[in-house]
Amino acid sequence: MGFAIDKIRADFPILLRQVHNKPLIYFDNAATSQKPQQVIDALVHYYTYQNANIHRGVHALSQEATDAYERARDLVKTFFNARLREEIIFTAGTTHSINLVAHGFRSWLQPKDEIIVGQAEHHSNIVPWQMACALTGAVLKVLPIDENGQLQLETLKSLLGPQTKLVVVNHVSNALGTINPIETIIEMAHGHGVQVLVDGAQASSHISVDVQALDVDYYITSAHKMCGPTGVGMLYGKKELLEALPPYQGGGEMIKEVYFEGTTYAGLPHKFEAGTPNIAGGIGFGAAIEYLNTIGLEEIAAYEHELLMHATQGLKQIEGLKIYGDITHKTAVVSFNIGQLHPYDVGTLLDRMGIAVRTGQHCTQPVMDFYGIPGTVRASFAFYNTKEEIDIMIKGVQRAVNMLQ
Ligand code: ALA
Repeated sequence: MGFAIDKIRADFPILLRQVHNKPLIYFDNAATSQKPQQVIDALVHYYTYQNANIHRGVHALSQEATDAYERARDLVKTFFNARLREEIIFTAGTTHSINLVAHGFRSWLQPKDEIIVGQAEHHSNIVPWQMACALTGAVLKVLPIDENGQLQLETLKSLLGPQTKLVVVNHVSNALGTINPIETIIEMAHGHGVQVLVDGAQASSHISVDVQALDVDYYITSAHKMCGPTGVGMLYGKKELLEALPPYQGGGEMIKEVYFEGTTYAGLPHKFEAGTPNIAGGIGFGAAIEYLNTIGLEEIAAYEHELLMHATQGLKQIEGLKIYGDITHKTAVVSFNIGQLHPYDVGTLLDRMGIAVRTGQHCTQPVMDFYGIPGTVRASFAFYNTKEEIDIMIKGVQRAVNMLQ
């Protein structure tokens, strides 16, 4: 059976709307994915029938909400094949998850310790480590990319040493779509006794991820990139590492006993979940995972790769168009410029045609500096997009070029 694209598109009510009197063509999926009715219904259902605080009440409603929230944790655990449910920490999203780990690491870092960070990281996987270094005297080392946006593994060999405490890389570059060889990176780092944190925000709804098979120490993502709500995400961490990591925020729910003389902390996952969480968000995250499971990540990946190839071939017909990170081992992201045209101008004209792309630095200034450009036009596809939409975008880019040149 082929990919049931019409049935899938019918699940996303937003795809029926118009923008500037044109049918919406949504190619900004790397920024955030659209939400299927099933996820929207889960949010509405919670607020309509189940709204209560969780882990606190003896009353039925609180118990029901707790069960729904904890069921979502089980869905996340299974989706990423974590060994234990307490290894899944609900957070506010990828940025929060990275800051949580970086904050804990401050207690472990000594002056001159080293953290290796990929050159194509999102700012959210650079700045928290710079802050940790500034406070501890640790040093950030950059693992460079080559012209295709691929990490230079030969250099990683020489960077790893006795001072290295952590390697932080993305699974997929948000700016270019490059899929990084995290299996190899993890193996190399572990060979030196070094932990690895992987930012999976751009991977988790496009590539099937098995945290146990990867043997990754920390894996992080946001629900909103996976058809789920904004403001919720997860941190997976190996149990023994999370048990050792100091908590990020103090408050209710994360404690065992509180005395003015001192406090003891709750066990995992609650140690890292102070305060009332985003309950509806967590439940919506679970609904998003159930939705993705009904389609299947292998099927999604295969279909999105077809979209990528179609877009790449079509865009390359446009004179002067350059794709950054022009390789095939990537997710369905095409980041490009045409001659000296400013990406913002191209993006603005596409918007007038109803086509949503992202323009600029994509929160990855070091990548733009590497290529010596102010930014790119980034079209990022999802499994509910079609080749027909891509054809309209390609014609639109050509029209934009004709207008601007
Ligand atoms: N990190 C998101 C993006 O790449 C916002 O657009």
